[in-house]
Amino acid sequence: MTTTSYAHRATAVAARAQDLSKVYGQGETQVVALNRVTVDFRQGEFTAIMGPSGSGKSTLMHCVAGLDSFTSGSVRIGDTELSTLKDKQLTQLRRDKIGFIFQAFNLLPTLTAMENITLPMDIAGRKADKEWVERVIDMIGLSGRLSHRPAQLSGGQQQRVAVARALASRPEIIFGDEPTGNLDSRSGAEVLGFLRNSVRELGQTVVMVTHDPVAASYADRVIFLADGSIVDEMLSPTADGVLDRMKAFDAKGRTS
Ligand SMILES: Nc1ncnc2c1ncn2[C@@H]1O[C@H](COP(=O)(O)OP(=O)(O)O)[C@@H](O)[C@H]1O
Ligand SMILES: [Mg+2]
Repeated sequence: MTTTSYAHRATAVAARAQDLSKVYGQGETQVVALNRVTVDFRQGEFTAIMGPSGSGKSTLMHCVAGLDSFTSGSVRIGDTELSTLKDKQLTQLRRDKIGFIFQAFNLLPTLTAMENITLPMDIAGRKADKEWVERVIDMIGLSGRLSHRPAQLSGGQQQRVAVARALASRPEIIFGDEPTGNLDSRSGAEVLGFLRNSVRELGQTVVMVTHDPVAASYADRVIFLADGSIVDEMLSPTADGVLDRMKAFDAKGRTS
């Protein structure tokens, strides 16, 4: 049997997993969370990762983002092979090259929106690319509210601040695990629109785990995971198309 490769050649790659496996536990309690996954995340592309609960979405994201170790295979961010890095170098790579957006917004309550956005760079002692940060701020759609504290902002506004914070250091790639999972559909749409614009207008690379077909439809492509393997890929997805595909997987699961 040949395994389908979801690697794309000849385009600049922001991150790549090759033959990536992650096994939890040993013996009878062993769980294969990822089973030889090969996937590329190209620069300037917005990818959604979908699949049933327990299919390995978070594990894939955490392994590619250098937040979790893996059992075999390789991961690279840009030209850097993660397995060659010592702990300190990995921490530095995560800080400099990777942006994160979480379901909980994780903003500091005592800082203003603007201070939250530049905080990671301030901590790292890095000088902000002013022009870039200004473009990010232009896009966030929070004019007049940047001096507000998180508690004075809606959920959607807070998550847009968190997205701007991830974008501010101009990372190689941004990862989000259900970044709109805590938001109503209107607030979710504001955040997703901002993410999509960051890809289209700034050339940012974004990888987002989601279970929502509407959220996935903002992406350039969707990869579907089942039992730790990539089982399908959809380009230029629509919400209806993604929903149909999910239903087809469910039906297959019931009959097999
Ligand atoms: N720390 C862990 N210890 C043992 N098993 C784990 C751990 N984390 C995840 N798993 C297992 O790995 C599989 C994939 O989990 P996960 O990546 O969280 O799936 P998803 O994000 O798609 O819901 C599941 O079977 C889960 O139970
Ligand atoms: Mg998960």
